[in-house]
Amino acid sequence: MEYTFTTNNRDQTMAFGSFLALRLVRGDVVLLEGDLGAGKTTLVGGVAKALKVHEDVISPTFNIMKCYFKGTIPLYHIDAYRLENQNIELGLDEYIEGDGVCFIEWPQFIMPLIPDERLEVSLHNVGGDHREITIKGEGKRFEKLIGEVKEVFHD
Ligand SMILES: Nc1ncnc2c1ncn2[C@@H]1O[C@H](COP(=O)(O)OP(=O)(O)O)[C@@H](O)[C@H]1O
Ligand SMILES: [Mg+2]
Repeated sequence: MEYTFTTNNRDQTMAFGSFLALRLVRGDVVLLEGDLGAGKTTLVGGVAKALKVHEDVISPTFNIMKCYFKGTIPLYHIDAYRLENQNIELGLDEYIEGDGVCFIEWPQFIMPLIPDERLEVSLHNVGGDHREITIKGEGKRFEKLIGEVKEVFHD
């Protein structure tokens, strides 16, 4: 099942991240696809806000992963951008389907670590502050969640 809608500014994308965060449980994995500047890290900022992390989310590109433990559940934010063409075992599997929620930017570079059960969010810059967002997921829980997104976020 998938659904596409548009956000018209940064705050709306953050609100979508917050909306997701409140419906996720420990072990959930969310893939974030989209070009640089599409809004992936911004969305995770909204997640952090809803989880009461009380810390700014910064791009983990140079760290590969950032962990936020101060919120209601642990938030793991992976950016696999720099892992392209690398084949190193970083122990990331401990955090994917671990004891918190895990958001992954550039998941295509670590596909062997990605579980079948996941939500996929893709963001596309359609000009100015507009971002077309597609959310995709299978299974009862994720389909219900996508139905709820449909009711709240529409063009
Ligand atoms: N609708 C929108 N949603 C998300 N970000 C937006 C939007 N409109 C403008 N922006 C801006 O686009 C940039 C997105 O950057 P970022 O979230 O770091 O992207 P990514 O992690 O995908 O590379 C930010 O500067 C943000 O303020
Ligand atoms: Mg980013």
